[in-house]
Amino acid sequence: MKIGIIGGTGFYEMKGEEIELESDYGKVTAFSFEKHGRKIIFIPRHGKKHKPAHAVNYHANIDALKKAGAEAIIAINTVGSMRKSMEVGSFFIPDDFIDLTGRKSTFYDEEAIHVDMSIPFCPVVRKILIEEANKKGVVHEGIYLVTEGPRLETKAEINMFKKFAHVVGMTLSPEVVLAREAGICYASICLISNYAAGMQERLDIEEIKRIYNERKSDILHIVDECIKRLPEKRECECKNVPERGKI
Ligand code: HPA
Repeated sequence: MKIGIIGGTGFYEMKGEEIELESDYGKVTAFSFEKHGRKIIFIPRHGKKHKPAHAVNYHANIDALKKAGAEAIIAINTVGSMRKSMEVGSFFIPDDFIDLTGRKSTFYDEEAIHVDMSIPFCPVVRKILIEEANKKGVVHEGIYLVTEGPRLETKAEINMFKKFAHVVGMTLSPEVVLAREAGICYASICLISNYAAGMQERLDIEEIKRIYNERKSDILHIVDECIKRLPEKRECECKNVPERGKI
């Protein structure tokens, strides 16, 4: 199985050979390498010039992985916690999400395809991520609320959002939806890098970066173990989702 990894800044350690992938939405810079006998393609989500979350070409990233033959994607994201009990530095593996971005989240403009989002993340990839993350730290599960950014949230927004979700971030959607439309297994490992607005004195990007750098090697280890354990042949339902959504 060919595996795609989409990560934020600072994961350039994954490197390998720099390649340019074709997609219907533009070229994508990626890194190709082999790990544990598996072909891996790493895409730095924000591209070479580090585009902010609202300007990332999510369509190009997913379409490029699809065209390159990836059957599973491990996504790495950072999030703010909306629960005191979900502490900074711990891991969060979302099992659901709320998309408040308003970003375009489909490949299908001509054909009507309604992908089922009852179980948005691949259960097989999620289970392995949870098990491996548990060996490296505290792991939480729950709902990721996606905001448009690039600004951070207001205290009032967080007070509202925390009634419906556990963490807040800017990068999960439309990535997860597009992966589903592409029939690719997808799960995310998030690092809780801060408490959301109003829950800590102020939000400091330097602090977020510091937490991220502190946990980076653990995340890389978790992803590495996940690469080892992913099944060669897919037995989950993810590949059938687009066909089942056709009218
Ligand atoms: N809000 C939105 N996105 C984020 C945050 C946050 O608090 N932390 C990391 N990404």
